[in-house]
Order: sequence, then C-alpha cells, then structure tokens
Amino acid sequence: LHVDWDLVTAEKAGYPHFMLKEIYEQPKAYRDTMNSRLSEKRDRVILPEITMSDEEIRSIRNIQIVACGTAYHAGLVGKMVIERMLRLPVETDVASEYRYRDPLVSRRTLTIVVSQSGETADTLAAMREAKSKGAHVLAITNVVGSTVAREADDVLVTWAGPEIAVASTKAYTSQLIAFYLLGLYMAQVRGSVKQEEIEQTIGAMQSLPEQVESILEQAESIQSYAEQIAVHNNLFFIGRGPDYLVAQEGSLKLKEISYIHSEAYAAGELKHGTLALIEDNVPVIALVTQPALAEKTVSNIKEVKARGGNVLGITCEDSAELQSEFDHTLFIPRTLDMLMPALSVIPLQLISYYASLARGNDVDKPRNLAKSVTVE
Ligand code: G6P
Repeated sequence: LHVDWDLVTAEKAGYPHFMLKEIYEQPKAYRDTMNSRLSEKRDRVILPEITMSDEEIRSIRNIQIVACGTAYHAGLVGKMVIERMLRLPVETDVASEYRYRDPLVSRRTLTIVVSQSGETADTLAAMREAKSKGAHVLAITNVVGSTVAREADDVLVTWAGPEIAVASTKAYTSQLIAFYLLGLYMAQVRGSVKQEEIEQTIGAMQSLPEQVESILEQAESIQSYAEQIAVHNNLFFIGRGPDYLVAQEGSLKLKEISYIHSEAYAAGELKHGTLALIEDNVPVIALVTQPALAEKTVSNIKEVKARGGNVLGITCEDSAELQSEFDHTLFIPRTLDMLMPALSVIPLQLISYYASLARGNDVDKPRNLAKSVTVE
C-alpha cells in the first residue's frame, strides 16, 4: 500500500486549505460551543464553569473587553450584546492600547479578555493590568491550558477545535456565540431580559448552524464575485450598527490574506471624508441586515453609486425589494438583529478566501503575519 498524502494534506481532510476547512467547520463549532450550555428544556443558559456568584454578577458596574485583531472584532460585537442585554456600560479596547489610557477599574469591574490562542502578549499584558487593578477577569479562549486561561479568574472555552489558518474564522464566530451565551447568562442572573426573550434568543441561536450551512451552499457565486474584485487594489465595506461591526472584521480578513487595501466605514460616516475615494468601479460591500437601519444605509449606497462605486449588497432573503439598489446581491437568512453577525460574516470570509486564491497567495500563511503573536 502506498499512501502519498503527507500529514498536512491529511489534516486538511480533502480541503485545499485549512482556512476553507475551518470556514466549513463553523456549523459544528457553533453547536459544540452552544449545545452543552443550554438547559434540557432549552429555556436557559447554564455555565457551570463560571465561578462568579450571582451576587458578584449582580454587583458588576462596568465591563471592559480587551483583545487583539479578530478577537477584538468579536469584542465589538460582545459590547453590543452585553450592553443590550445588561444595560451596563461596556468598553472594548485593543489590548495593545488598553494599558496606556490608565483604565478606570474597580472591584466591580468585569474585564473580559478574548483570545483564540490564549497566548497573545498584548492581551496577556492587558489582562494582568486589569487584574492588578482589582477587576474580575473572565477569559474567552479556544485553548484550554493556555496562559490566558490559567491566569484568568473565569474561563469560557470556545469549542471551535484547533484553528490552523492564520486568518481566524471559526474562532471568531465561536467567540460571538460565547458572547451571546455569556450575555444571556448574566441577564438571567440580573433579571435584565424577560424570560420570553431569553427563550426566543436561544431558539434563534439553535437555527444558526443550519443557516450557516445554507450560506455555504452559495460558495460558487461568492467565488465568482471574489474573482471580480481580486483585480482591484482598494475596496470599502460599509454598514450600520451590527453590520458595521462585521464590516470591520470583513475588511481585516480581506487585507490579511488577499493584500487588497480595504477600509470598513460606518455607513453614515462615509460622507465625512472617505466618500472622496469613491470613483468609477471602486467595489463597495454594503451590509444591510438591520431592518430599522436599512433605509439610512440605502441612502448612503445611493451616494456611493452616484460616484460610480460598484456595490455588493449583503442583505436578508426577506428584503428582496433592496436588490434594485445594488449591482450585485447576496441574500442570507434572517435571524434576530443581534445575532446577524454570526451569519453575515460568513460570506465575507468566503470573499476573502476566494480573492486570496484568485491572486495566487498563500491563503493559510499570509506574508508578514503569525497565528499567535507573543511579542508586544
Ligand atoms: C494574530 C493573528 C490574528 C488574531 C490575533 C489575536 O495577529 O494573526 O488572526 O486575531 O493574533 O490572536 P488571539 O490568539 O489572541 O485571538
């Protein structure tokens, strides 16, 4: 018997790259991160690993989230989720900046550090700073025995499985799931969200894996769009609210592996400067998944189109009427507004992957970048 697969090829399980494999592993990662943390009746979130007492959770006055790179982008969504569910002030900081602003920490501060690897030097340093100032530190990490996990007071593991590609995909989305779970859990304790809404959110979360699968089925058309943008050197992502948060992650992903320069802009901010860069055929990816914000984003899209921009609109299947506003349209399934990032980021991951592939780049090992950065 002759097997001419090396170990790496075998580990890719038939996928050409780890990144693509990891993108397709997301439905499983969602289920693994979520299912063991739901009550049998699916009406409550249970997090036995959290050691904070109910009283401690009730006494939290402010929350700080610190992380780097993609984990930071998950932290931006975390801020939105926790503020909505707990009505507490939440700040999200880039870990490398956190220390330099002499952050206001008290014994009633909860600091959440987010790190796939649990070894990022800046994140570790920020965490130690928060701890020394008296905060309770909770880590969201993908690596059980990591330094961050060992030093934190509490650990919430994302069960995404090993992530090999430098560009993070399933770790990011599992971090989102972890934030939804944590938000719901603390809201249960603090009584800040009605039971009915908790059940509705849990129900919607359980549909996410299948909804991700249905987006993955559109990979072919996403690839053909990605091949069109791969020849450009500049691109913009726009969105409002949760869509803006996802836009930031989409832009980072594209830069990391395709080397196309891109910027993510809050759609309403575009006219304060960046609009000057829009000219004929500049690709703009617009996320329009929030019904309450759609009309305003559409008016920003009109501004872009009036200057020749070529717009891909990513919107929900129930918003077919928006299609006429876009040059290209990608429909994704609808979920609760707050959960939309767990779906809308998927096409952006695929766009980056296929753009990188079309440019002949080393998708899994982009130039100048490392999977885990252990220097400050
Ligand atoms: C590196 C990786 C990024 C990652 C960041 C934070 O820069 O290339 O993909 O988001 O570190 O890593 P962490 O392991 O702390 O989540």
